[in-house]
Amino acid sequence: MFHATLHQLKVFEATARHGSFTRAAEELYLTQPTVSIQVKQLTKAVGLPLFEQIGKRLYLTQAGQQLLDTCQRVFEGLEQFEMAIADIKGMKQGQLKIAVITTAKYFVPRLLGPFCQRFPGIDISLKVTNHQNIQERMANNEDDLYIISQTPEQPDLKVHPFLENPLVVIAPKNHPLVGKKNIPIQELSGEQFIMREPGSGTRQAVQSLFDEHEVDVKVRLELGSNEAIKQAIAGGLGISVLSVHTIISEGTTGEFAILDVEHFPIERHWYVASLAGKQLSVVADTFLNYLLEESHPMAQKLLPDIKLATATTLEETDPELVTSSK
Ligand code: PGA
Repeated sequence: MFHATLHQLKVFEATARHGSFTRAAEELYLTQPTVSIQVKQLTKAVGLPLFEQIGKRLYLTQAGQQLLDTCQRVFEGLEQFEMAIADIKGMKQGQLKIAVITTAKYFVPRLLGPFCQRFPGIDISLKVTNHQNIQERMANNEDDLYIISQTPEQPDLKVHPFLENPLVVIAPKNHPLVGKKNIPIQELSGEQFIMREPGSGTRQAVQSLFDEHEVDVKVRLELGSNEAIKQAIAGGLGISVLSVHTIISEGTTGEFAILDVEHFPIERHWYVASLAGKQLSVVADTFLNYLLEESHPMAQKLLPDIKLATATTLEETDPELVTSSK
């Protein structure tokens, strides 16, 4: 059994790197005799000379070279071990602050469940808000990660797309347009419409599509929440355009139908973003990778309709989702 201390190996490695006891001593804040004693003891333990001295310079012997290679592998392994331990400690406790766009609240909590089970010591703060408020939170550096659904104006962000977020026309089941195929977008003109509040990304997207096609809906109500809009649709107050995620748990078997209107769905994505200059904590970084790796398989498993909703025509994959059978 080879008896050497970690300290001796460090002294040896520095001596080999510098080819000098004196310089190794300087680097390690030791005296030169201490360094040479340590190397002598190590030589004794190995049982072969580690250096040969030619002039003032030290050269490694074959055994010395082998030991140096071994030392490098040992130190590298220890470094990786230290990093892994720091990560484990970091993941044992910590905080994660996330701000998510309103539509993502239908999906992100489902992802957070297994993450919290895996790392039970992590405290999570989840703020659900609209596009404009998220931008303000970014400007004030309030959160670790942001889940947004349009690439923001802010340039200094690291942004990764991770899932589709299509916007569809949602109507009550008994609406006269339910069941019609490929409805021209102009037919929405004059429809009673429920609109999200100013500052909403959904509203911006809808408004610009309607402007482009000169569609003039009658905005009957403005509501600041997707849930409130769903209730208003169910109550017969009008139709609206919402992310398909908002009705994914009820699907179209509940009170809603998705109208098959030209130029819909409006294709959007969710992105996870962080401020470019921000040093992400181990927790935030782990969640970011988790989100990128797990969200798609989970979406397919938990919410298989997402795939349907992103098909060019919803009807192609699931007529039930587009037309009302009742
Ligand atoms: P909003 O955004 O809440 O600002 O409308 C929702 C979305 O874009 O998914």
